[in-house]
Amino acid sequence: MSQASSARLLKGAPVAQEILARVQAYVSQHKLRLDIVLVGEHEASQIYVAHKLRQAEKVGIEAVLHRFPAEVSAEALRARIQELNAAPEVTGLIVQLPLPAHLPEALILDSIAPHKDADGLHPQNLGLLAQGRALWAPATPWGILELLMHYDIRAEGRHVVIVGRGRLVGTPLALLLSRPAAYGNATVTLCHSRTESLFTYTREADILVVAVGKPHWFPSEGIKPGATVVDVGIHREGHRLVGDVQPEAAEAAGALTPVPGGVGPLTVACLLENLCRLHRAQSRSQ
Ligand SMILES: NC(=O)c1ccc[n+]([C@@H]2O[C@H](COP(=O)([O-])OP(=O)(O)OC[C@H]3O[C@@H](n4cnc5c(N)ncnc54)[C@H](OP(=O)(O)O)[C@@H]3O)[C@@H](O)[C@H]2O)c1
Repeated sequence: MSQASSARLLKGAPVAQEILARVQAYVSQHKLRLDIVLVGEHEASQIYVAHKLRQAEKVGIEAVLHRFPAEVSAEALRARIQELNAAPEVTGLIVQLPLPAHLPEALILDSIAPHKDADGLHPQNLGLLAQGRALWAPATPWGILELLMHYDIRAEGRHVVIVGRGRLVGTPLALLLSRPAAYGNATVTLCHSRTESLFTYTREADILVVAVGKPHWFPSEGIKPGATVVDVGIHREGHRLVGDVQPEAAEAAGALTPVPGGVGPLTVACLLENLCRLHRAQSRSQ
C-alpha cells in the first residue's frame, strides 16, 4: 500500500516481536513441536509454510512438514492426521489452506483432535469461542485484536464493520469482538457478498476490517474519515504484496495497517503463541 498520507501506520512487527518474546520465554521452559500438513503446490501456501517453519525454529519450536501431492486422497490425509493426533511428541498441528478442490475441507479439519488444533478451526474450538470459553483462537483474528490493543485502539462501545465472513478471519473476528471482554464489547456488523449498499455500513465504521480476498478492491469512498482500517488481504502482484484496500484509502483513514507488514507478521506469531496455549492446556489435563 502507498504510504503517501497522514494516516497512522499500524505496523505489525513490534506487536509480533512482543508476542514472540512471550513464546520464546515459554519455549525456554518447555519442549514444543508444530506439525504442518501441506498438500499440493499452491504458490502462496509454499511461502506461508516456509515462513511458519522458519519462525518456529527461530524461537526454538521444533517444526515438522508433512508434504502430500495434490492428488492425495482424503482417506490418506485423514490417516496421517490421526497418527499426528495420537503422537505424544506433537504439541499441535495445522493443515495449510486452501486444499485442492477434490478434498472436503470440513471433513479434513474435523479430523484434527481439538486439543491439537493450533489454528482453532475445529468446530468444537469455534463453538467454545462463540461462548467465550476458548483457550486459544484462530491466529489472524487474534492477531488483529493484539494489534488494536497494542496501538490502544479500543473496540469497546464502538462500531466495528467487518467485510468478509470467511471461516479463517471474518466470522471468528466478529465473535471475538462482540464478546464481553477487554478486547471486545464492540458493536459488530458483519458484511459479505450479499450485503446491499455496503458503503452504508462501512461509512459508519469506527473500525473497518476488510477480509475479502480481492487485491486493491476497497476504495476510500467507503471509509468514514478518520476511521481505523485493518487490511487483512495479502496478494502477490509481480514482485510486491498488496492488500484488499486501495492505496488511496490512506488519505481517508485515521490509522491503517500496511500491506505488507501489518496483519501478516501477527498471524505467524499468534499461531506460535497458540501452540504454547495448547501445551499449557494439555499439561493441565494430564
Ligand atoms: N494477513 C494474513 O495473515 C492473512 C491470513 C488469512 C487470510 N488472509 C487474507 O484475508 C482475506 C480473506 O480470507 P478468508 O479466508 O476469510 O476469505 P474467504 O473465506 O474467501 O472469505 C471471503 C469473504 O469475502 C466476501 N466477499 C466476497 N466478495 C465480496 C463483495 N463484493 N462484497 C462484500 N463481501 C465480499 C465473501 O462473501 P460470501 O461469504 O457471501 O461469499 C466471503 O465472506 C484473503 O485475502 C486472505 O488471503 C490474510
